[in-house]
Amino acid sequence: MTKQYKNLVNGEWKTSQTEMTIYAPATGEALGTVPAMSQQEVDAVYEAAHQAAPAWRALSYVERAAYLHKAADILVRDAAKIGAVLSKEVAKGHKAAISEVIRTAEIINYAAEEGLRMEGEVLEGGSFEAASKKKIAIVRHEPVGLVLAISPFNYPVNLAGSKIAPALIAGNVVAFKPPTQGSLSGLLLAQAFAEAGLPAGVFNTITGRGAVIGDYIVEHEAVNFINFTGSTPVGERIGQLAGMRPIMLELGGKDSAIVLEDADLDLAAKNIVAGAFGYSGQRCTAVKRVLVMDQIADELIAKVKSRVDQLTVGMPEDDADITPLIDTKAADFVEGLVHDANEKGAKALAQYQRQGNLISPLIFDHVTTDMRLAWEEPFGPVLPFIRVHSVEEAIAISNDSEYGLQASVFTNNFPQAFAIAEQLEVGTVHINNKTQRGTDNFPFLGAKKSGAGVQGVKYSIDAMTNLKSIVFDIQ
Ligand code: NAP
Ligand code: G3H
Repeated sequence: MTKQYKNLVNGEWKTSQTEMTIYAPATGEALGTVPAMSQQEVDAVYEAAHQAAPAWRALSYVERAAYLHKAADILVRDAAKIGAVLSKEVAKGHKAAISEVIRTAEIINYAAEEGLRMEGEVLEGGSFEAASKKKIAIVRHEPVGLVLAISPFNYPVNLAGSKIAPALIAGNVVAFKPPTQGSLSGLLLAQAFAEAGLPAGVFNTITGRGAVIGDYIVEHEAVNFINFTGSTPVGERIGQLAGMRPIMLELGGKDSAIVLEDADLDLAAKNIVAGAFGYSGQRCTAVKRVLVMDQIADELIAKVKSRVDQLTVGMPEDDADITPLIDTKAADFVEGLVHDANEKGAKALAQYQRQGNLISPLIFDHVTTDMRLAWEEPFGPVLPFIRVHSVEEAIAISNDSEYGLQASVFTNNFPQAFAIAEQLEVGTVHINNKTQRGTDNFPFLGAKKSGAGVQGVKYSIDAMTNLKSIVFDIQ
């Protein structure tokens, strides 16, 4: 009999009539069941949150911060326990899963502290009329109300904490929908907030398949802000359903690593391998293509290959570098990209190997722009190298993508690095390092189809608050 996980609704743990079983992607082991909530149960979540909102927003930042610090302490205490479940549930290396929980505690603490620095401003009138000088505006941040936070399978805890903590410290109430594959860990995160003593209804959870209840929870008029991380198609759908309501969308990416002739190739190879193959490539910020100057391509690719050959392939509990992908559909998708590249003449530097959902890491040389691998997000351990003949060509291919999350530039010519960074249509450019979110106080955003709105503790708080001005006339 597997453990029955429950939803946190109005301070109580609730089951539903329908339950879903969550299986480990790596072994097929049944890990537990979670409720598949009905629409009426979602209504009850939203009603509880609205009832709890006035008292929560009336607290001082210091009082709200105390709850957050407590939740963070509980996460640190339980990191091994939560990490063990997370590791099995999303087939993430055991150490990486524990570190995801610790990083979440850090974000929660940071958000609590950032809340203490939430300041408004006082403005003096300054329009063309002389009388405007007599006006004074007090501008303050107010909570938006009820925030719906939706996290993806690859960081079910961390990309939940990065939404929930800034929302709560700002005085909002929260409904959190974890990914179905990731909902056990998501509900363990909720347990930490519940144990921290958050007042009933301030933080609630909703489980159920996005394909079934997604539209209902998003369209619901009780929701004031939707904070979503996940795929671009689902993000676009949420954008359509949101109407006039504010949203934050962190979506897919096709991050380029651009390697110039003068780059330190050992440093580039190390970062490219870590960036492309961490968590088997299932990161929005993974290096998803390398644009390398032709003169140095052979040398760089040899260095990358020798590192890739050392990656271990196996099970999450053994902390293998490459673990099974989240499901068969994901592995089939990667396989489709591999076949397309093979058929169109790219050169695979190893034999393609797949056992179930476990795909061995593979690099392709001589990828060209007519291949799907040049443009699509594999979300798996396959990395294309595209040889280029000029900086302009590298920038053009990078910018031709529908995505615009991040990019890396490897060079020791810093003026050139800055010039390239200015031209890349992405949210962040890393110089001589892999693409990556964070640190978590930095702004994190995507251009084009990679998102809308800006994450990062301070930026998330700003996004999930409204400004209100109170204007005085001094007579
Ligand atoms: P996904 O399929 O879009 O799912 C993300 C979340 O949305 C899950 O909780 C999912 O629930 C829910 N959902 C699905 N359909 C929904 C709907 N119609 N309405 C509301 N919610 C719905 O993405 P994923 O496969 O979990 O994550 C991988 C993708 O996320 C990749 O494209 C990756 O690049 C992107 N990602 C982006 C960032 C970033 O910060 N830019 C970070 C991480 C991941 P169910 O699980 O129940 O379907
Ligand atoms: O998957 C998307 C995450 O936002 C990536 O975070 O760069 O820290 O792995 P990371």
